[in-house]
Amino acid sequence: MTISERINGAVEAIRARTDRVPELGLILGSGLGDFCDRLEDQTVIPFSDIPGFPLPTVEGHQGAFVLGSCRGRTVAALRGRIHYYEGYSQQEITLPVRVMAKLGVRTLILTNAAGGINLDFQPGTLMLLTDHINYSGMNPLIGPNLDEFGPRFPDMSDIYTRALREKLLPLAREAGIPLREGVYVMYSGPNYETPAEIRFFRAVGGDAAGMSTVPEALAARHAGLQVMGVSCITNMAAGVLPQPLSHEEVVETAGRVKRDFTRLLELMIDVG
Ligand code: HPA
Repeated sequence: MTISERINGAVEAIRARTDRVPELGLILGSGLGDFCDRLEDQTVIPFSDIPGFPLPTVEGHQGAFVLGSCRGRTVAALRGRIHYYEGYSQQEITLPVRVMAKLGVRTLILTNAAGGINLDFQPGTLMLLTDHINYSGMNPLIGPNLDEFGPRFPDMSDIYTRALREKLLPLAREAGIPLREGVYVMYSGPNYETPAEIRFFRAVGGDAAGMSTVPEALAARHAGLQVMGVSCITNMAAGVLPQPLSHEEVVETAGRVKRDFTRLLELMIDVG
């Protein structure tokens, strides 16, 4: 089956379950998934009911496509993100984004947990993505171009839509949510980076490092969507502090900033 056939099959399966048209798409990062529960009037479709959808491999996490409303807008959210390090292809991990685009989504909100490279950051800092460096060595747009979504050589000079960032920043300030801006570097994972890699990323202009977001942003922008991204700096990146990194720290910090993060996501939905 071609990737286009898989996308179309998934769209049909979702349309058979609901006729709601989502305007906004939401993909939530490690430890940040609880926001899905805040969506009102939910239609929950397990990934396993959607033919062609990749399934998250993390044990105990059954992925689901959730349609719901928030702040008066219809939102399509993924409960359970698919990562490249799980062994799926770039086309597979971005399939949900393309499905969202076909269902009507115009703006995609991407969130992630990331390690702080910028020495002004600390665990708990929220960083709005201004740009990214794709250091994964991979790209979801490689292969036959899907002309129905966008052109062969898409422009990425405004990948994280500046106009939306300019609307969001004053709202975050008024709401008292400390929000920094910066460049996200994607490394494939699943291991955390080495201290030398982090020094390298800092030298080339990176502010945060993580294992997601970039493929989805590329596929979304290719399809003409507006994109917003926010990183929760859950830990300082490798080598910054004299201590090892752990997934427990990532989840713990994400939990600690939940209030600000939730409020920020609501503002992103308002501007998106
Ligand atoms: N590196 C990469 N991914 C991450 C990190 C990190 O330090 N923290 C949370 N996700």
